[in-house]
Amino acid sequence: MSVHISAKKGEIAKTVLMPGDPLRAQYIADNYLTDVTMVSKTRNIYYFTGKFKGKEISVGASGMGFPSIGIYSYELFTEYDVDTIIRIGTCGAYTTDLQLFDILNVDKAASESTYAKFAWGIEDEAIANQGNAFDKINETAKELNLATKAVNIHSSDIFYRKDPAVPAIAQKYNCPAVEMEAFALFANAQYLGKNAATILTVSDIIPTREFISADQREQALRTMMELSLETALK
Ligand code: ADE
Repeated sequence: MSVHISAKKGEIAKTVLMPGDPLRAQYIADNYLTDVTMVSKTRNIYYFTGKFKGKEISVGASGMGFPSIGIYSYELFTEYDVDTIIRIGTCGAYTTDLQLFDILNVDKAASESTYAKFAWGIEDEAIANQGNAFDKINETAKELNLATKAVNIHSSDIFYRKDPAVPAIAQKYNCPAVEMEAFALFANAQYLGKNAATILTVSDIIPTREFISADQREQALRTMMELSLETALK
């Protein structure tokens, strides 16, 4: 057990797929994994371990924002010996150059957040994905004939804001999209010498206010789930 995860040592696989939402973790476990065990449900943040095409994989939620993913990824890396975390989430596009359902593989996450500085003394405003998971995602996407875009993204503490302008940090690091977790995940992985990547599906286009409907969401997210599962086999 760790402070926030009730799984026993050894019950979590070396690779963890991490959606934000516990019900998405459950969906992956129900639809893609065999021999599944629910290994933690503390705070309704579900973790499951099972097999995908014979390989042991765990899937569990991060919750929303830096504090939440910071806690879960740290405990997985340090208490459960996890090697690789692949976040699978959604993002908002700052530009109509991106379209709904586009799949992004995050190169760097740029943030105004002080998380990395105060947690680990990492002063960088932009932190890269860590280890080889990013390359494996690109390779796997090619094999599956899936178009993905490698981009920098803005990791923000803020979902609702008064000023509609694209924030300065997103402009500075050429970020076409925004989400709320990758920066803290990459900071933890960098400090601990672990692997971390983030795959995002564009769920809303901020300037036009288009968004993926509830009906379309399942299929859109399935593509990203399958990419992450196939990547986890490598
Ligand atoms: N995740 C999905 N859409 C988002 C948005 N517009 N802002 C921040 N995170 C998001």
